[in-house]
Amino acid sequence: MAKITASVYTSHVPAIGAAMDLGKTQEDYWKPLFAGYEYSRQWMKDNKPDVIFLVYNDHATAFSLDLIPTFAIGTAAEFTPADEGWGPRPVPKVIGHPELASHIAQSVIQQDFDLTIVNKMDVDHGLTVPLSLMCGELDPKTDAWPCPVIPFAVNVVQYPVPSGQRCFNLGQAIRRAIESYDEDLNVHIWGTGGMSHQLQGARAGLINAEWDNRFLDRLIAEPADLAKVPHIEYVREAGSEGIELVMWLIARGAMGDVAGSGRPPRLAHRFYHVPASNTAVGHLILENT
Ligand code: DHB
Ligand code: FE
Repeated sequence: MAKITASVYTSHVPAIGAAMDLGKTQEDYWKPLFAGYEYSRQWMKDNKPDVIFLVYNDHATAFSLDLIPTFAIGTAAEFTPADEGWGPRPVPKVIGHPELASHIAQSVIQQDFDLTIVNKMDVDHGLTVPLSLMCGELDPKTDAWPCPVIPFAVNVVQYPVPSGQRCFNLGQAIRRAIESYDEDLNVHIWGTGGMSHQLQGARAGLINAEWDNRFLDRLIAEPADLAKVPHIEYVREAGSEGIELVMWLIARGAMGDVAGSGRPPRLAHRFYHVPASNTAVGHLILENT
């Protein structure tokens, strides 16, 4: 059977992708940020998954105000990195896993979560920046991402957005779906976006390191309580775009202590850094035990 062996959490700041694409990672501004992912890149090599289930948000790239799915699962064979205004990032195309994605859609919809099935979409920095952070620089002409990726897009851009509680419950349903797939696959689930940031209005530039670190503590140790935090607290404490953090609760809800073995995960890596563009960067790796 397929198994979720680990979850990864990371911010997706677009400027991080640009720093990698333009060869700026060793500049003073970026060096400490990329140093925090050195462990993670080695960990990815040592713990190579067969499939990554990647929870992220689209930023009006594949979707727009014309069409706003709350939860959308990518069932295509491949996904092209989007042109976000400066041309598509020079990274490999993303190979999907249509069989596992279709199975998850079937199972999760039968568990009463409404998913939008997406057979064709481009993927933006929300998905490609976490992959780049974890996998390093890759040449689209000669290299590939280490494994297939199932994109799972969550609307955290246009209200109403899903609650942390609903995301946490969905993670549990996703775990049941993956672990009922009849093939021995090692699956990672990633929750991406965040941490505190606000890109607009009077509070643009807001960073709340204390709240972010408390979020990391609670995500590790008391995720069921953290899931009860209402939207207003995210927005007040972590800024309007800090609401992206509800996506981390999907990945956390899929971990064994919540929906499986009952044993707490092992914290393999924790990192927090300010600044990266307008955003605080947070990162965790949790392994199922
Ligand atoms: C920034 C952060 C984001 O999450 C995003 O989607 C776009 C921009 C920023 O920090 O500039
Ligand atoms: Fe974002």
